[in-house]
Amino acid sequence: MDFTLVASELLSATVRWLHVVAGIAWIGSSFYFIHLDLSLKKRAGLPDGVKGDAWQVHGGGFYQMIKFLVAPSKMPDELTWFKWEAYTTWLSGFALLVLVYYMQADLFLIDKSVLNMSAPMAAAIAFGSLVASWLVYEALCRSPLGKHEVALALVGYVYLVALTYGFTHVFSGRGAFTQIGALIGTIMVANVFAVIMPNQRKTVAALIAGEKPNPLWGELGKQRSVHNNYLTLPVVFLMLSNHHPLLFATKYNWIIVAIVLVVGPVIRHFFNARHEGKDSPWWTWFVAAFAMMLVLWLSTNGPKDGKAGALPATPTFAQVNEIVMSRCSMCHTAEPVWTGIGEAPKAIHLDTAEAIKLHAKLIALQAGYASAMPPGNVTEMTPEERQVIAAWYAAGAPGE
Ligand code: HEC
Repeated sequence: MDFTLVASELLSATVRWLHVVAGIAWIGSSFYFIHLDLSLKKRAGLPDGVKGDAWQVHGGGFYQMIKFLVAPSKMPDELTWFKWEAYTTWLSGFALLVLVYYMQADLFLIDKSVLNMSAPMAAAIAFGSLVASWLVYEALCRSPLGKHEVALALVGYVYLVALTYGFTHVFSGRGAFTQIGALIGTIMVANVFAVIMPNQRKTVAALIAGEKPNPLWGELGKQRSVHNNYLTLPVVFLMLSNHHPLLFATKYNWIIVAIVLVVGPVIRHFFNARHEGKDSPWWTWFVAAFAMMLVLWLSTNGPKDGKAGALPATPTFAQVNEIVMSRCSMCHTAEPVWTGIGEAPKAIHLDTAEAIKLHAKLIALQAGYASAMPPGNVTEMTPEERQVIAAWYAAGAPGE
């Protein structure tokens, strides 16, 4: 066994573990505080400067949560800050981005049939656009547009969809989905790091100095916290999407992202309205269901470069066998001959007729109905070959 291979596998598994746990902690506290904020009620008898309180029951006791807005009259002795769950999520996520997408760019970031470029070039474009797109978002929020929430949301939406369209025309589908997810995640963490935290520090410094904090500091932080709230569900979807080739490796992949960027916020709206004690906007679920049907339909349109028509009459197993042997088996075998692949990926062997028949569904999913495999289309599979596989599977995957 190759030691570096085993070590890098373990490293990536550990970082992924950390990333998911940190993300759960961050999203959990973020959802919690948004809920708490929305459920605060002004009641008689609360101290001065209190926006409202909320009663909660959990873990065998009752809590009375009070929110001071802008701040209590004097600095409390102890204060808990919430920032490391966000920073850890980003740091571990960025480490994964480097391990999986930048260091293995040939497989997961680049698709030569989309755009041919070198691995360092792809990684540089990916990282550069991550930083640049955050700067543009920051500029939009600080511009006069930043004072109009609805206009800002619309411009932000068009901006993210345009970026997605661009990324799907530069990177592989999988690379593009991860890139846009990482980009939104970066914006969210930067909101904590560059706006929410610095403003909270100013408020605390003012309290210690015995001055009255400027309410604007809190308002700016709150605005970014609301952005984060609405961006959470789309980011989680994008992060999970790399397990679903029909989403990222099909023709209309960028429209699928555009739809999810609506569905996520719409579902958040449902919960936010409920937590605020308003009538539940049940219509949101119909919109979400309809939108997901649209995603379903879009994802059935096949691989990006698939030409319509020209379907062969029911292909024979011999044809499929030859395609898989020549396009897949160099990696999916006990001792892969592809540099950098140490053992059959995901323990899937595609090097005998029996194995190919056994994995008919996975082969059709990854390489017939979508173009997720071979990764980055490294073995230059043609659209016609994908059609042969799809037609073979649709005909019941005959073994002859
Ligand atoms: C360059 C090497 C390479 C080639 C060629 C290749 N694969 Fe893969 N395959 C991989 C890697 C790497 C993974 C694991 C991807 C990951 O980590 O998400 C994988 C994963 C898979 C999976 C499992 C997906 C999952 O997560 O459930 C299937 C199925 C698969 N490949 C089928 C194919 C088919 C069919 C072909 C030929 C059309 C093919 N592969 C060609 C490297 C390759």
